[in-house]
Amino acid sequence: MDISKFKSNVVIESPGRINLIGEHIDYNGGRVLPAAIDKKITFKFRKNHSNTCEVFSKNFKSSFKIDLNQLKRSEVEWQNFVLGVLYHIDSLKPNSLKGFDCIIESNLPLGSGISSSAALECGIAKGINALFNLKLTDLQIIKLSRDAEHTFVGTKCGIMDQFAVVMGKKNHLILLDCESLDYKLIEANFKPYMLVLLNTNVSHNLASSEYNVRRDECQTALEAIQTKHPKYQNLTEVPVKIIKDFKGVLPQKIYNRALYVSQEDKRTLKAVSKLKENKLIDFGSLLYKSHDGLQNLYEVSCKELDFLVKSTRGLDYVLGARMMGGGFGGCTLNLVHQNKVDEFVERISTAYEEKFNIQLTSILTTIADGTKKVNE
Ligand code: GLA
Repeated sequence: MDISKFKSNVVIESPGRINLIGEHIDYNGGRVLPAAIDKKITFKFRKNHSNTCEVFSKNFKSSFKIDLNQLKRSEVEWQNFVLGVLYHIDSLKPNSLKGFDCIIESNLPLGSGISSSAALECGIAKGINALFNLKLTDLQIIKLSRDAEHTFVGTKCGIMDQFAVVMGKKNHLILLDCESLDYKLIEANFKPYMLVLLNTNVSHNLASSEYNVRRDECQTALEAIQTKHPKYQNLTEVPVKIIKDFKGVLPQKIYNRALYVSQEDKRTLKAVSKLKENKLIDFGSLLYKSHDGLQNLYEVSCKELDFLVKSTRGLDYVLGARMMGGGFGGCTLNLVHQNKVDEFVERISTAYEEKFNIQLTSILTTIADGTKKVNE
């Protein structure tokens, strides 16, 4: 397609997300605290009055064609996010999809734990919804985008990323109950501290396979606990005290996973009350505790992430740090005093490069609105 002559009918911006606390909790039915950010993917859509589509990625400098009569998986990973969304829209609203062209441009780093995948899925879904007036609700868009990831990409993700990407509100965190999908907006006031993301720039290929393994391990723990306590439907509902009764009963690894999940879910609620009381030191120490659990009990961290978090300990201008997202690479989230951000980034970057010979990138984020239609 000649992109210089592209005249769009609909333009969509779809953000990445951060998660303050409540990691690996969404698919365990608990509480999480994500937000949409100001880094995003922009989509330009136009109708092409045919039965095929063409999608061009400016970042990959490549395009691919889609036959709407044959929506099936591709060998190329990023294409599956698009194809999966179209497939699930077609299942929900049969015969409503028509030909379109789309240009995608992203300033979200890939594989960094800030959910470029949900941004892509939800942006495509919202764009198609607007282009063909399909009247899909936000919740339908969130769920079908999640389903696309399960069926076409193969990661059995929870619902947090898609929910945050679509429902994000400027300057607010979303306290989301992943079982009921009830949510509350919490003012994101960290002043005089700022959220700084440090990108390890590594993405270990364990991420997707180990993610699905963690889901299975949690299911194993839950089923064992249910034999004695059938009333619990989700692992996050089981009190820490009851989990501890299973020490030596469950295999150690499964026990550790369950203990982490129950503790982290409670930490999310504690973190929200500390934030409301403006007790940022306590809030920060919960971030460190979350990282400890992810590193030692849930085992989804990696040496690069652990190094970054450890390097912040003892810096009096950093209140907390932890790995963020699925793990095995990507970013750490750091709560840093606004006057010390440059010094912080410089210091940690130097240490990281010395240790791993990899360059660190920092991302200063602000909390922004979710996926929306914009004027060109
Ligand atoms: C990935 C998944 C989410 C969530 C996080 C971990 O981002 O897509 O559903 O499970 O990992 O909290």
